[in-house]
Amino acid sequence: MSVTGSQPTRYAPTAKWLHWIIAACILFVIPAGIVMGRLPEGALQNQLFDLHRSFGVLIFALAVWRVYVRQSRGAPPPYPELSRLERIASTAVHHTLYILIIVMPILGWLMTSAYRVDVSVFGLFTLPHLMPQNDKTYEVLSTIHKMGGILMTLLVLAHIAGALKHTIIDRNDLIWRMLPQRRSD
Ligand code: HEM
Repeated sequence: MSVTGSQPTRYAPTAKWLHWIIAACILFVIPAGIVMGRLPEGALQNQLFDLHRSFGVLIFALAVWRVYVRQSRGAPPPYPELSRLERIASTAVHHTLYILIIVMPILGWLMTSAYRVDVSVFGLFTLPHLMPQNDKTYEVLSTIHKMGGILMTLLVLAHIAGALKHTIIDRNDLIWRMLPQRRSD
């Protein structure tokens, strides 16, 4: 796939799998985050909170792995058929999404600590509190986490719209850069 010291022509298989697993987790945590805050207090709300936090922590771990794979194995250059505007826009969206999949879980963990609630990861283990209880800090972090969630939703929609445009309207093979390798490749 990649030649040491030169830019690879494709994404590493691990980068592709991580892309789709992280995407599936994001498609769960965002709607879960929106719904859980609007549910009446009770068992269902608690379960959704636990799942939201657990999948958020999973996203963080996978995101760190993904950044490591990108640094160590490299990434292919932008798709050659992109216009200058598309190249700038897609690079900005991708890089902001990388930042958000790292920052959003940290914000969630910080704010849950400030609220003095345990972050239990799928009931397997509990993360330590990152800070003492502080209602004011919780409110500030919660607002930033919500704004990050809105930004992330918009970027994910733009990302999906871009992929659909290339596949359905332009009918090029850009989507295959993130799919398992074809036999003919
Ligand atoms: C990539 C990961 C994450 C994303 C995209 C995300 C996204 C969201 C979204 C969209 C909301 C709904 C905000 C609203 O009510 O409009 C939310 C709420 C919330 N999230 Fe996350 N989240 C992530 C990770 C985490 C993690 C790791 C934790 C905790 C460890 C966490 C804790 C919370 C809590 C406690 C709320 C409720 C906030 C409140 O009502 O003040 N999140 N999140």
